[in-house]
Amino acid sequence: MNTIALQIENISKSFPGMLAVDNVSLEVRAGEVHALMGENGAGKSTLMKTLSGSFDDYTGVIRIGGKAVELHSPAMAIANGIGMVYQELSLARPVSIAENLFAGQLPVNKFGLIDRKAMLKNARRALAYVSLDIDPLKTIEEISQHEAQLVEIAKVLAKKPCILILDEPTSSLSREEVRRLFEIVRDLRNRGLAIVYISHHLPEVFEIADRVTVLRDGRRVGTHNIHEITPGSLVKMMVGQSINEFYEHREANLGKVALSVNHLTRHGFFHDVSFQLREGEILGVVGLCGAGRSEMARSLCGLDPIHDGEVSLFDEELSPDNYPDAVSKGLVYLSEDRKVDGLFLRLPVSRNLVAAVLPDHSRAGIYSSRNDASLTQRYLDELGIVAASSETDVGTLSGGNQQKVLLGKCLATQPRVLILDEPSRGVDVKAKQRIHETVIALADRGAAILLISSDLPELVGLSDRTVIMRNGRLTGEMAKEELSEESALLAANGQGTIHNG
Ligand SMILES: Nc1ncnc2c1ncn2[C@@H]1O[C@H](COP(=O)(O)OP(=O)(O)OP(=O)(O)O)[C@@H](O)[C@H]1O
Ligand SMILES: [Mg+2]
Repeated sequence: MNTIALQIENISKSFPGMLAVDNVSLEVRAGEVHALMGENGAGKSTLMKTLSGSFDDYTGVIRIGGKAVELHSPAMAIANGIGMVYQELSLARPVSIAENLFAGQLPVNKFGLIDRKAMLKNARRALAYVSLDIDPLKTIEEISQHEAQLVEIAKVLAKKPCILILDEPTSSLSREEVRRLFEIVRDLRNRGLAIVYISHHLPEVFEIADRVTVLRDGRRVGTHNIHEITPGSLVKMMVGQSINEFYEHREANLGKVALSVNHLTRHGFFHDVSFQLREGEILGVVGLCGAGRSEMARSLCGLDPIHDGEVSLFDEELSPDNYPDAVSKGLVYLSEDRKVDGLFLRLPVSRNLVAAVLPDHSRAGIYSSRNDASLTQRYLDELGIVAASSETDVGTLSGGNQQKVLLGKCLATQPRVLILDEPSRGVDVKAKQRIHETVIALADRGAAILLISSDLPELVGLSDRTVIMRNGRLTGEMAKEELSEESALLAANGQGTIHNG
């Protein structure tokens, strides 16, 4: 039996008006991966943030190596060997990878100046540890989101923690990257680190975890050896009921061509992309991370430039590089990264939900907050957004609930064409089902939907048809009958039979 590295005893933490963590006790052993699961807002991140020194007002006792410790600041947590990779990335975007890695503790030479050579050497070593081969002088803005995720992990590991907390580390990683991350995690476990792993992804948890603890409404429901439970019973522990992850077969009722993309090119990202999307259709884009799916989507709707080709919405050409034009014509894009271009974290939920529709709601220049209230309530209900009130700042919602607000914000514009980029990232099983129902209902009402998702069951379950994207090019398409998780994966990797579309 491994020694106990971390003991959490009767920890509680409240925010104004709510008890986020309610008297939780938990032990994590050295040399184990301990998964922490639970619905959005269950208190997972909050419990772990008490360990990383984010709060000075928690109650209860935390023991590390048997000794009671006070963790009232990030520095205290680091000094006690706790390293946490946060759910929302915390890197400074305009700054280089190297400086991010060693923020606050850059190596200095004998003149007291930053020793750039040592910094680069240390940075390369830290990056090699997470198998990342990129120039440490690049800024975070210049690298992809999954690279940024690995930099974040490298940054925490550079402080040599003995307890490592990973809060949904794989939400922006491809399968291959998840596999590599798991190798790193297993290696760290074998070296005796105690690892807490937060995830909504059941297959991942069954693959990597030794034990799992479930939280619900801030309380601990139970802890089990992973071999003692099934995915079904785990879901039941999380949501208090069984969930049917079955996708109903639906017959798409296709209408006019809603979106027509012709020879779209952005050098270095994607080339000569052409496809059409009809009203009532859900078109999935199969592809690996880095295939260019998000880049294509962003350029398509005018968030990023294009070099060649054009996009039409109901036969009307969109002006390139002009997202507001696209929105005014009925297209909306749900971003892959809610923190960077999705939400106003310091504004309340209600303002975020109506942010995209303000012109419509301010009749004759008078801003009507009554309309907002009913609209806000509608999305709170429809998407099951859990917030203390509609006036709570979005930044204080749990990660999954932020994602739901983002979707609500897109829906509030009543788009005719909707591009969904990883719509259920970070949301729990129940919320995911709600989101899927909403997407299907939209399509049934005639909206045209382009779906980018690395969640294969989701992509396969929702798509009426898929196009395959590889290395920046569309390489073929698959009809619903041909689509399975296996065929999608093979196609994304450039294998299997593909019909050229
Ligand atoms: N800074 C904050 N201020 C106020 N309330 C907060 C704050 N941080 C979290 N909360 C609330 O505490 C509760 C627990 O949130 P937490 O982020 O721990 O959930 P979670 O289990 O990590 O969920 P998810 O799976 O969505 O990430 C939520 O109701 C959330 O709104
Ligand atoms: Mg969380």
